[in-house]
Formats: sequence, structure tokens, C-alpha cells
Amino acid sequence: MKAIVYGQYGSPDVLKLEEVEKPAPADDEVLIKVQAVSVNRSDWEGLIGKPLYARIGGLRKPSNNILGSDVAGRVEITGKNNREFQPGNEVFGEMEGYHSGFAEYVCTRGKAWALKPASLTFEQASAIPQAGVIALQGIRDKGQLQPGQKVLINGAGGGAGTFAIQLAKLYGAEVTGVDNTGKLDFMRSLGADHVIDYTQENFTRNGKQYDFILDLIAYHSAFAYARALKPNGSYYAVGGSVFTFLQFLLFGPWIRRTLGKKVRLLVVQRNRKDLESVTELCEAGKIVPAIDRRYPLSEVPEALRYLGENRAKGKVVITVE
Ligand SMILES: NC(=O)c1ccc[n+]([C@@H]2O[C@H](COP(=O)([O-])OP(=O)(O)OC[C@H]3O[C@@H](n4cnc5c(N)ncnc54)[C@H](OP(=O)(O)O)[C@@H]3O)[C@@H](O)[C@H]2O)c1
Repeated sequence: MKAIVYGQYGSPDVLKLEEVEKPAPADDEVLIKVQAVSVNRSDWEGLIGKPLYARIGGLRKPSNNILGSDVAGRVEITGKNNREFQPGNEVFGEMEGYHSGFAEYVCTRGKAWALKPASLTFEQASAIPQAGVIALQGIRDKGQLQPGQKVLINGAGGGAGTFAIQLAKLYGAEVTGVDNTGKLDFMRSLGADHVIDYTQENFTRNGKQYDFILDLIAYHSAFAYARALKPNGSYYAVGGSVFTFLQFLLFGPWIRRTLGKKVRLLVVQRNRKDLESVTELCEAGKIVPAIDRRYPLSEVPEALRYLGENRAKGKVVITVE
């Protein structure tokens, strides 16, 4: 089968379209013919090897040489112990370990995968798993929002952020989206009440405070985030620098005791129920997977370059012929 392969961390130039062995499903797996696979920042991080957590399992070179984690496709073969799906089922979900998706076929146990609703295209379905579940667990579970509460989403113009804006609006929050200059109108179009351009303004230093902050790209100090929270407010980071995450572990408990504010890391738990919940909202038209561009499999390097060069609005999707 064809796949996009890499053997070292680096720019999109290290990615090559190659013929590789088609995977064979283990007894507890299914073999899926990929129809679409979306691009996530986790792919970009796995490509360049930064932040440090992107090198888990492969400090000097990648341990798995195919990136791509959010897949939608058709089940071709089921292993004899797999009870999740049947051949012919249209399914979608996130690959374990964030790899192997930029290919014509993948194998997965499919525990956190779901049946694709007929009303969604493969491309739309592939845009949902990682980004949609991050947003759901951030906004619904950690946010516990009341109507009128002030919410800030940092990195709101990207994959998870675009779902997060729409979810926070569904819960009746007053939403501020933070992203680069080129994404301000886009964030407004998804429902953001206020927007901040991170290239012009540091939201931790403008004197405004929020009940809840969901951060897709955390690079400020734990104390800066605490400053941007109202009393009893909560901040959760999903992605960002390891140095920043360490501060949450070191100073988070102290900030909680002395200031009464939560500054924490959100570790996302993949599961079918949450994937189905966010997908039902998409089916009902309450939220939309915001797809910016589509590329063929051979152009995964261009797709990743587009995301890495700060231009992607929402999701970028690879359509596999
Ligand atoms: N915690 C967990 O369990 C877990 C699980 C899965 C994934 N993750 C992580 O979650 C993150 C999710 O990202 P995603 O897929 O939504 O990424 P994305 O689509 O790239 O979105 C991130 C957005 O943040 C913007 N941004 C960059 N620098 C910024 C800054 N200084 N201030 C504000 N915004 C900034 C980006 O804009 P530009 O175009 O300007 O760069 C982009 O629009 C990734 O880091 C991933 O590794 C965490």
C-alpha cells in the first residue's frame, strides 16, 4: 500500500510517499481501508520532534515512521476476536499512539472508535476524533459552564479550538478566542464574542479575567495564567511546552491553596461515548467540523506545512483515493 513515511525528525521535506507492506490485523484488530485522515498539531509535533513529549518512544528518531491519527474509513477484515465492528462498516476514530494514519490501510482495535453516521462525509468524520473530544472534555467536563460565564480559548482558531468555541457558545458562555491575525474573523464566524490577536496582545497581561480558560497551546507561566482567572476560576492546558506543564505540577497546588484558582493539565481520555456525543452535536447541526483545506495522500507534506506555517483555520483533511 502507499503511505507517507519518515525516518527522522525535521521539516515536511523528510516525508516521502512510499510503497510499504499492507498491515495485517491481529486477532483483536480490524483492518480499515482509509477514506480520509485529518491533520492535527500532534502530527506536526511528531514530525518536528517538539515539544519534548512528541519524542516519547523515540528520543533520537521516530519510533513509528508513519504519522496520522484521525482516520475515517471502511472495515475490510475483522480479526477473529474483534467484536467491535463488521466488514463493510463505515467507522472513524483516533489511532492508538497517534500514528499510522497517513496510509491507504490501518489496523486498530477500535475500542474508542465509532460507526460513522450516514449524514457525515468521511472527511467530516475524520475531522472530529482528537479535536472534538479534546474540546468536549475541556469545555463540558472541566468547564462545567453556567450561562453568561466568561470563557477564554487560547489557540481557538485551530482544530480543537474551533470545536471549543462552538461548544462554549452552546453552553451559553461569553467566549473570547485567541489566535493569530489571520484567524480573527474566522473565530468570530464560529461564534466568538471577542477575539484577541496573540501576535499583538498577551491575554495574561491585559487586566481581564475569566471564569474558565482552555489552552490548546500553553507557553506562559502558571502564575500568568492564574492572573487571567477570576477568583475560583479554572485553567486547563491541553498542549504546549513541557516546561510550562512542569510549572503546573510544581505550582498548581500552591496556586489552588493561596489564590483559590485551578491551573492544571487536561489529560484527554479517548473513549467511544465522548466521540459519539460530539458527533451527535455535529449531526444535529449544533456544531460543525470546520474544514479549511483538503489534500490528497501524496500531498501530506504540503498539508503539514500549511498547518505548521500558521495558516490553517480549523481542520486540514487528507482524502485518500
Ligand atoms: N493533553 C492531551 O491529552 C492531548 C491529547 C491530544 C492532543 N493534545 C495536544 O493538544 C493540542 C491541540 O492542538 P490542535 O490540534 O487544536 O492544534 P492546532 O489545530 O494547531 O491549533 C492550535 C492553534 O493555536 C494557535 N497558536 C499558536 N501559537 C499561539 C499562541 N502563542 N497563542 C495563541 N494561539 C496560538 C495556532 O495558530 P498558528 O497557526 O498561528 O500557529 C493554531 O490556530 C496539541 O498540542 C496536541 O499535542 C493533547
